[in-house]
Amino acid sequence: MTDSYSLLRPWLFCLDPEKAHDLTLSNLDRAQRWGLLQRFITKPIADPHTLCGIQFPNPVGLAAGLDKDGKHIDALAALGFGFLEIGTVTPRPQPGNPKPRMFRLSEAQAIINRMGFNNDGVEACIARVRHSKFWQSGGVLGMNIGKNASTPIEEASKDYVFAMEAVYEIASYITVNISSPNTQHLRSLQSEEMLRELLRELSEERKKLSDRYGVHKPLFLKIAPDLDQGDLHLIADLLLEFGIDAVIATNTTISREAVQGMDHGNEAGGLSGAPVRKASNWVIKTLKARLGNDLPIIGVGGIMSGADAREKIMAGASLVQLYSGLIYRGPELVNDCAKALRR
Ligand code: FNR
Repeated sequence: MTDSYSLLRPWLFCLDPEKAHDLTLSNLDRAQRWGLLQRFITKPIADPHTLCGIQFPNPVGLAAGLDKDGKHIDALAALGFGFLEIGTVTPRPQPGNPKPRMFRLSEAQAIINRMGFNNDGVEACIARVRHSKFWQSGGVLGMNIGKNASTPIEEASKDYVFAMEAVYEIASYITVNISSPNTQHLRSLQSEEMLRELLRELSEERKKLSDRYGVHKPLFLKIAPDLDQGDLHLIADLLLEFGIDAVIATNTTISREAVQGMDHGNEAGGLSGAPVRKASNWVIKTLKARLGNDLPIIGVGGIMSGADAREKIMAGASLVQLYSGLIYRGPELVNDCAKALRR
């Protein structure tokens, strides 16, 4: 598989990034259905970690956004991840931003995207999750939720509450994504007043849901790398105040410092991959210093090697997630990271 991806990559990189993404995933599905993936991929690394009451088979997860609609769950699971995060899904289907909306910056091992939560809506995603063998066999599957672009930001919590209620039964954990730069005003939900209100409503609703289903599902909050120490302390304190179970750090950055002058370096959207690593690690360290062992951190942003994954754990993360590294390194990155983290 290692060699096949390095052979395929130059050809894939000649295609429009979104087309290459769709083509790769549909071929991955085919390979999984025909039993080819299982033959080429080395066995998944077993390194169980328990966090928020969930047993993760290994600490390396798929980050949100790669499979927004849960269309490729079984194929992605076959790559050796310890857990998958699906979404971001919104209450109603929406097309996202006009294309092109995804750009490769190969010289920086980076991606800029302004997808804008294109998705088929939460109900369609749930039906696909239920159909997947991964879910049926108890695989760890996080559901990442967001708001529709047409919902005014003042009413955002309605969308999050709706989506949380919808996914509650099927999700291993639920991630509240307030950090995408591609939905207008979304990141303002990270400010004190708005975050307090959102977390209050979500924790009240979660209480009702845990009574209804007789099970407490962990709620995670996903934050941006473009926050200062004061913002991070405030967020950390609110997470503890409202009993949120973990924080995912981080989403993509709006900074363009690392990619100035490069082709596509000035495209609007969120930058991911190698250039976000430093900022993400700083956020993790800052949160860890504030939170200690009171609340776990899931580290994501710029992992391109096993050593990068280890750096996240050293910074204070308990688990890691990948997205852009998969585009540049291919599936071998999953096992590389899992091996590097194996205790
Ligand atoms: C993302 N990411 C993302 N995150 C999220 O919470 N919901 C989403 O829908 C998306 N969509 C998305 C699309 C594309 C094309 C990319 C590249 C990224 C962010 C992703 O999960 C991750 O947090 C960042 O990309 C940083 O990690 P990497 O890519 O540097 O490993």
